[in-house]
Amino acid sequence: MAASGHLILLVLCLAAASASAHNITAILDGRSDYTLYNSYLSETKVCDEINSRSTVTVLVLTNGAMSSLVANLSLADIKNALRLLTLLDYFDEKKLHSLDSGSELTTSLYQTTGEASGNMGHVNITDLRGGKVAFASAAPGAKFQATYAQRVAEFPSNLSVLEVTGPITFPGLFGAPSASSANVTDLLEKAGCKQFARLVVSSGVLKMYQAAMDKALTLLAPNDDAFKAKDLPDLTKLTSADLVTLLQYHALPQYLPKASLKVATGRIPTLASTGAGKYDLSVVSRGDDVSLDTGVDKSRVASTVLDDTPTVIHTVDSVLLPPELFGGAPSPAPAADMPASAPAPESSAPAPAPKAAGKKKKKAKSPSHSPPAPPADSPDMSPADAPTGDAADKTDSKKNAAAAAAAGLRLAATAACVAVAVAALL
Ligand SMILES: *[C@@H]1O[C@H](CO)[C@@H](O)[C@H](O)[C@H]1NC(C)=O
Ligand SMILES: *[C@@H]1O[C@H](CO)[C@@H](O)[C@H](O)[C@H]1NC(C)=O
Ligand SMILES: *[C@@H]1O[C@H](CO)[C@@H](O)[C@H](O)[C@H]1NC(C)=O
Ligand SMILES: *[C@@H]1O[C@H](CO)[C@@H](O)[C@H](O)[C@H]1NC(C)=O
Ligand SMILES: *[C@@H]1O[C@H](CO)[C@@H](O)[C@H](O)[C@H]1NC(C)=O
Repeated sequence: MAASGHLILLVLCLAAASASAHNITAILDGRSDYTLYNSYLSETKVCDEINSRSTVTVLVLTNGAMSSLVANLSLADIKNALRLLTLLDYFDEKKLHSLDSGSELTTSLYQTTGEASGNMGHVNITDLRGGKVAFASAAPGAKFQATYAQRVAEFPSNLSVLEVTGPITFPGLFGAPSASSANVTDLLEKAGCKQFARLVVSSGVLKMYQAAMDKALTLLAPNDDAFKAKDLPDLTKLTSADLVTLLQYHALPQYLPKASLKVATGRIPTLASTGAGKYDLSVVSRGDDVSLDTGVDKSRVASTVLDDTPTVIHTVDSVLLPPELFGGAPSPAPAADMPASAPAPESSAPAPAPKAAGKKKKKAKSPSHSPPAPPADSPDMSPADAPTGDAADKTDSKKNAAAAAAAGLRLAATAACVAVAVAALL
């Protein structure tokens, strides 16, 4: 009995350790040569795509190479360039020099976006004469623009970080139309969110969304079925001010494509947020399933209609009901980012059980894959800390310290975890 319990504990510990296996942002944080590259990884959220892969090679550019690459590019284009520099296989220096017949075609993250036509998301690695290893697009006749420069970091068979001399590009990689020219109403209607589109236009909230699109916006658009749900409160009874708030609640003032939503922790502010945790929501993810939890209801993220950095539009299965409008309960505890942890003592205990009548499920304990584990899942990750982009390089030294601390914490927690389990087994 006890032994099996300990075994489970050990397994959980190992699972926790591997779930947060690598953090490319933290790895590059102390490296002043790659600050520009690193800040674009965060701004475009390619870092989250990289971290979600267990076998990956990241080709990084120095600040000089990066600044000439980004000179005239939109964020969406930069995102694609970074994805093409991320190979979905493990290449260290040794492997680069021992390719079968000196050349290999490998898949990049860009190939997984669905935007790559044909095999344009593949990268040709060739061991040139003279010992130079070069990288090129798989496009016919592509030039070898990038050559291997040096090793940056290495976690055998999982993550390799290599410096290369330049980007990998091909004609047509850049120049995607930008989101600010997209017709949001039209997109929403075509994605089966006609009712939401109608409300957004008639309430004038569309203008608020558009104003946010240049900076960063994640729109959570309920589909038409969501408005037909039996337990949906009568929205026509809302005052127009409350309707505006409800629609603002369906938008986040940051860029969170699905891979980034999946790893978002804590309470996330919406356009309706007033501070002190009011009108925030949280994310619950299980495998590929991502849901938003308002405290009153949960809504699954169904599909992504538009992902054009820094704007993303997801459709969701239910209307998001903020407790402030529909709960009849006081606003949720602002600090309660880990549902598992005991809620901080509060003067007005927000009786979590009896809430709105339409509520189906009780609040889930916490995503099953963040087990008893540790203080490792840094509780200081408040939404306000999420990288917003442009201020990134100003706070470098602070970030370095924080990263080192976080990495240290994670290590310590893992070590402690293993130690406890081993001690228990003895
Ligand atoms: C990765 O590290 C950075 C700091 O270097 C931190 O801000 C970020 O939250 C970390 N990401 C994850 C998923 O732990
Ligand atoms: C490292 O790679 C191996 C082989 O691909 C995989 O089984 C393992 O889960 C990876 N480990 C981590 C921590 O991602
Ligand atoms: C960037 O655009 C400016 C003005 O449009 C142009 O003068 C410059 O040559 C361009 N630079 C590159 C590297 O394409
Ligand atoms: C990589 O490109 C070179 C030069 O175009 C070509 O000779 C080689 O066959 C390509 N390798 C692969 C694996 O396609
Ligand atoms: C956007 O699309 C909607 C619906 O198709 C249309 O009514 C509207 O005129 C369009 N707006 C612009 C600015 O093109």
